[in-house]
Amino acid sequence: MAQRGRLYGIGVGPGDPELLTLKALRLIEAVPVVAYFVAKGKKGNAFGIVEGYLRDSQRREPLVYPVTTETLPPPLSYEAIIADFYDTAAAIVASHLDAGRDVAVICEGDPFFYGSYMYLHDRLAPRFDVEVVPGVCSMLGGAAVLGAPLVYRNQSLSVLSGVLSEEELRRRLADADAAVIMKLGRNFDKVRRVLEELGLAARALYVERATMVNQRIVPLAEVDPMASPYFSLLVVPGEKWQG
Ligand SMILES: C[S@@+](CC[C@H](N)C(=O)[O-])C[C@H]1O[C@@H](n2cnc3c(N)ncnc32)[C@H](O)[C@@H]1O
Repeated sequence: MAQRGRLYGIGVGPGDPELLTLKALRLIEAVPVVAYFVAKGKKGNAFGIVEGYLRDSQRREPLVYPVTTETLPPPLSYEAIIADFYDTAAAIVASHLDAGRDVAVICEGDPFFYGSYMYLHDRLAPRFDVEVVPGVCSMLGGAAVLGAPLVYRNQSLSVLSGVLSEEELRRRLADADAAVIMKLGRNFDKVRRVLEELGLAARALYVERATMVNQRIVPLAEVDPMASPYFSLLVVPGEKWQG
């Protein structure tokens, strides 16, 4: 019986291909199959980062999301549709592994930091040999390009999702030494309102597509909430400590 393939969950960093780790690059160049999540009709962010390193002989396996928004009209359920999709994606990856082919599932940033790879990992790690390669996550890429030291000395960092309710954002931000807010897009206006209410707006820094060629750093007051892209985040650095 053929030996089964190995699954690699590989973080490819926030956008700049030079932020791939040496290990990620070595494995991506070596595997016969590179799989990646992607929205219908798009190239895929993670794929764009590694594309220049791939050979024609390597199989590309796009795993195409059936939906891109979490709010669907009833009786459709985002949770049910997306769970079915992850089952199907796991079966596709498993078919390569069963045939003895190693698969790299590439993931922007880090695979275990809000990465869709996690849903494959949960399904496949009990059955296959798996290795996870960490990547530079977007919040660290963002802090670097914003020139924003995140946490000084004994401060703690809160990582928040912009999807949280206004009330919950207010409660958590009021308590935070320093914060990173992910998943802005349509949530931007709500997040900015809360930052203004708490007197944190002057400290908050905003970046779109950090480290990518089309990166944009915009003052908070000038961000158009209707045009804030999905790949954007906010950093509220900790108060400076004069060490
Ligand atoms: C599904 S999460 C993926 C996070 C990713 N696994 C990581 O380690 O950073 C998507 C969110 O990450 C953030 N993000 C990812 N890449 C980004 C980038 N280059 N610049 C700004 N934000 C980014 C955005 O907040 C976006 O809504």
